[in-house]
Amino acid sequence: MSPLIIDTDPGVDDAFALALACAAPGVDLIGVTTVFGNVGLATTTRNALRVLALCGRDDVPVAAGAERPLVHPHQHRARHVHGTDGLSGRSGTLPERATGVAGVDAVSLLVSLLESAPSPVTVVAIGPLTNIALLLAAHPAVHGKIARLVVMGGALAGGNVTAAAEFNIWSDPEAARRVLVEESVPVTLVPMDLTTRCAVDGPWLDSLAAAGPRGAALVSLTAAYREHYARSLGRDGMVIHDAVAVAEAVKPGLLHTTAMPVDVDCGFGPGRGGVIADRRPARQPDDRREVDVALSADLDQVRAFLLSHLAD
Ligand code: RIB
Ligand code: CA
Repeated sequence: MSPLIIDTDPGVDDAFALALACAAPGVDLIGVTTVFGNVGLATTTRNALRVLALCGRDDVPVAAGAERPLVHPHQHRARHVHGTDGLSGRSGTLPERATGVAGVDAVSLLVSLLESAPSPVTVVAIGPLTNIALLLAAHPAVHGKIARLVVMGGALAGGNVTAAAEFNIWSDPEAARRVLVEESVPVTLVPMDLTTRCAVDGPWLDSLAAAGPRGAALVSLTAAYREHYARSLGRDGMVIHDAVAVAEAVKPGLLHTTAMPVDVDCGFGPGRGGVIADRRPARQPDDRREVDVALSADLDQVRAFLLSHLAD
C-alpha cells in the first residue's frame, strides 16, 4: 500500500478528493491536515472530519493547521463558490465523526507521520500551501520522507480568482513560492488549466449519484458549486480540481507532466498569486529548480477513473 497524506480546505472538490483517496486501491490514507481556504479553518476541519466519516474512515488522524497565510493578512474565502459552510450548505447532512481531531497541530501530525512511515509518503496539497511551507521550513529532516508533493494550484493562462491567479496560490503566494521555488522536495504541480479541462458534466454526476449512498451523498454536496460552474463553464457540470490532483497521486502518470522552472508573483499588483511557468523549449540551462507541471491528459480516461473509484 502506498502511504498518502492530504492537506486540504474542504470545499466541495476537496470532499470528492478525500473520497477518492479513501476508495482508491493500493492507497493507505495515513493522515489529513486542514488549512484555511475555501472557508475558515474551523469549518474546513469540521468538513474534513465529516467527509471521512461519510467514507467510513474514523481511523484517519485529522489535525488542523494554519488559519491564516504565512506573511500578509488575507480575509478572502470562497464561500460564494462552495457555500457558507464549504459544502453547499449541506455539511450538516453528513455524519459526525466519532473520532475528533488529533491532539496536535497539522505540522506536528505531518512530522510524526513522515518520521514513522516505513517508506516515503506522497503528500497531496489541495488548499493554500501554508502548512506545507511551515513543515518544510521547520523540519528539514523529514524532506527525505516525502516521496513527492502533488499540488493542486496555479494558473498558467488565466486564473479563477483573479485574471492572473488560481485560488490556492492566491490565498498564500509567499507559501507557494517557498514550496514551488525555494524548496527542493519533488513537486508535481496540477494547474487549473488542466483540471478545468477535466470538468465533469450532468450525466457524469447523475451516474455517481445513482451508484450508491456515498456517491449520492457526494453529489448532494454540489448544488452551490454546480451553480457556480454552470455560470463559469456556460453549461451544466463542475470542475473537481482537487480530485484530479489526487487521481494523479494515486495513479502516477495519469496526467502528463513536463519539467520546468516556475515562479510565483508575490507582488501586490494585478499579477499577485500568478504562477509563471518557463515553458520555453530552448531555454538556457540555469540553476533554477524544476517542477513537473501537468499540462495534458486523456481527459475521458481521467473522468472514467474518477467515476469508477468514487462510485465504489
Ligand atoms: O482553484 C481551485 C482550488 O481552490 C481548489 O483546491 C478548490 O478547493 C479551492 O481550494
Ligand atoms: Ca481545495
